[in-house]
Amino acid sequence: MEKIKIGIIGVGSIAESHIAGYLKLEDCELYAFCDINEARLKAKGEKHGVTRLFTDKDEMLAACPELDAVSVCTWNCAHAECSIAALKAGKNVLCEKPMAMNAKEAEEMKKAADESGKLLMIGFVRRYGNDANTVMDFVNAGTFGEFYYGKATYLRRAGAPGGWFGDKSRSGGGPLIDLGVHVIDLTRYIAGNPKPVSVYGATFKKLGDRNNLKNRGGYASEDANKENDIFDVEDLVSAMIRFDNGFVLSVEASFSLNIASDVGNIQLMGTKAGFVLDPEVKIFTEENGYLTNISFEGSTSLNFNGLFENEIAHFVECVKNNLPCRSPAEDGVEIMKILDAIYESAKTEHEVAIK
Ligand SMILES: NC(=O)c1ccc[n+]([C@@H]2O[C@H](COP(=O)([O-])OP(=O)(O)OC[C@H]3O[C@@H](n4cnc5c(N)ncnc54)[C@H](O)[C@@H]3O)[C@@H](O)[C@H]2O)c1
Repeated sequence: MEKIKIGIIGVGSIAESHIAGYLKLEDCELYAFCDINEARLKAKGEKHGVTRLFTDKDEMLAACPELDAVSVCTWNCAHAECSIAALKAGKNVLCEKPMAMNAKEAEEMKKAADESGKLLMIGFVRRYGNDANTVMDFVNAGTFGEFYYGKATYLRRAGAPGGWFGDKSRSGGGPLIDLGVHVIDLTRYIAGNPKPVSVYGATFKKLGDRNNLKNRGGYASEDANKENDIFDVEDLVSAMIRFDNGFVLSVEASFSLNIASDVGNIQLMGTKAGFVLDPEVKIFTEENGYLTNISFEGSTSLNFNGLFENEIAHFVECVKNNLPCRSPAEDGVEIMKILDAIYESAKTEHEVAIK
């Protein structure tokens, strides 16, 4: 059988996780790489034995008509142009999160996918985690009843990655578009993908990237450059999102915040039970007239080993067998509408309706 030929646009940090996922699949072949950073492109080509190397996505797409699928792993500002070009060239696309810089770009990407008839999958990798799978088994069994309130938290005490992440022209924003996007998507997914109708949000830029700290810790992007990095994005966001079925989600995400330590968890509360993913899955309910807590034998916390592999394997299965995608473009568009509305609400200091 002919192997599925894969192109990667943007061969930086996260591309390595995509590459590892493709390498695990016997029916895939790493076929071509593209990156505007020529030195990195060459190094990654040598590392992975890929010889078709391009500094321009259009040149790659023109030179390799036989490509079947493309992972878009660039800075956020290039997601739309690279995905649209690949879709127009007839390729299936897996685009990293966030889908785009804003909802307008996301809608243009979805339109390109609809017109090409090719798959546009969004890399909402948390949907493919073992912890999400565990919770979804209970959702599907009706354990929780109706979800009506949720909390999505992704707070870093001093975790601005530096490099392009703090440069709004390349990232589109700070912790909301980079971190919040993961937990907003995961909670909405578990709650059954309700339509967002309005948000109230506030963003802050009080502490910046805290690059001056002596004991700041990790999170550095490959391009981080303490002296020259731009930081013109928010460092904290807090928002309430209202959905059409009455579900309300409270979100907090930060790059810098005066808290004891980093926090990453989601909680959803339903009429029959609630759960927290913190990081183990725990379920809170009542039984036979008692408040009861359910915890699990063995670990249910998110295992990064296999996480991207699950996502990539699903993408390739969808490409091969035309299966329904678990993280389709339309969900990416809805999430971008939420993010746009939060930034708008923060600016206007009013609730913003989402159409
Ligand atoms: N799913 C996750 O958990 C996760 C984790 C980290 C990053 N990401 C996402 O992955 C993307 C990349 O992040 P990263 O940390 O790998 O960044 P990175 O800077 O390490 O890599 C991005 C690469 O894209 C290249 N690039 C930029 N514009 C390009 C263009 N127009 N054409 C070709 N190449 C281009 C850059 O030169 C760079 O090498 C971002 O969208 C980020 O949000 C997702």
